[in-house]
Order: sequence, then C-alpha cells, then structure tokens
Amino acid sequence: MSAAIPAPAQLPFQGTAEQEQQLRALIEEKRDDKGALMPILQGAQEIYGYLPVEVQKIIAEEMDVPLEKVYGVSTFYSQFSLTPKGKHQISVCLGTACYVKGSGLVLDKLKERLEIDSGECTPDREFSLDACRCVGACGLAPVMTIGDDVYGRLTVDQVDGILEKYKQQPHA
Ligand code: FES
Repeated sequence: MSAAIPAPAQLPFQGTAEQEQQLRALIEEKRDDKGALMPILQGAQEIYGYLPVEVQKIIAEEMDVPLEKVYGVSTFYSQFSLTPKGKHQISVCLGTACYVKGSGLVLDKLKERLEIDSGECTPDREFSLDACRCVGACGLAPVMTIGDDVYGRLTVDQVDGILEKYKQQPHA
C-alpha cells in the first residue's frame, strides 16, 4: 500500500523546543527495540497530543524509515490522531442505538455551530469534534461526551446551551 505524503495540518504546528527534546530522547531510548515505531508514535502522541506531519518527519529521519511508513502506521491505528485535539474534546456516539435516536443530527448541529468537520479542531483550539462507536451507555442514547462529561438523551436543541457552558469556562 502506498500512502500519500500527508497534507499540511489544518492548524499550524505549535510544538515547543522542550517537546522536541522529549521526543528525541524517547527515540534515542527506544530506537534499538524491536518494533520501536509503535511505542515511539504512542509516546509522541502523549508529548504533542497528536501526530502532526512535523513530528512524523522527525521520527522518520531519526529512525531512518520512509515518511510514508510512519504516515501509514499513524493512519492505520485509530488510537493515533493526525489533527490536534481541542481543550474540550467532543465525541458523538454514532453506534446503532445512538444513531437511530438521532445522534447524526446532533453531530451535524455541532459541525454547523463549531464550523468544523468531524475529526477537526476549531482554530482557537477550544473544541475538537469526533464521532465514536458505542461508548456503552446505550440506555442514554443518543450520547455525546465532552472530556469526562457524558450527555445522554440529547436533542439537537440542547447543543447550543451545552456548548455555551464550555465557552464560558475560564482558561486554565
Ligand atoms: S450506541 Fe451509543 S452508547 Fe451505545
């Protein structure tokens, strides 16, 4: 399978020198391990919160593997994200129970309000939006989570009020 070189991230890369130092130390520590790429990608995602192309390039160069390979692994496993996550991570369940109760409409409303697509992050990095599979709360369908908060029996009309709550939260 040949993977295309990823397009530039939707939002500018904001990695710090300290993060890069941590990443290089991690690579140094793991590079001789068998199957080192996976743990390095996992560690890189912990350091940066996602795997931007800039980080993939450092890993490819340092590990002496083609960028296409790093990109291929990063996109193959759902645990990896190529886009940044927001301060508030919204996840809408599109499992069957939620979907039949209208979670698709809730997701559409969130896309419209946040002006982003599923898998993206708002330019101010406040919110990111994802769809997920069953989160095991089918009795509460349709369900969405924002960080650790769970919202059940959602209606489209509740979306604005819920977003407002998070917009008002002061920055840490
Ligand atoms: S299908 Fe949404 S919680 Fe199970």
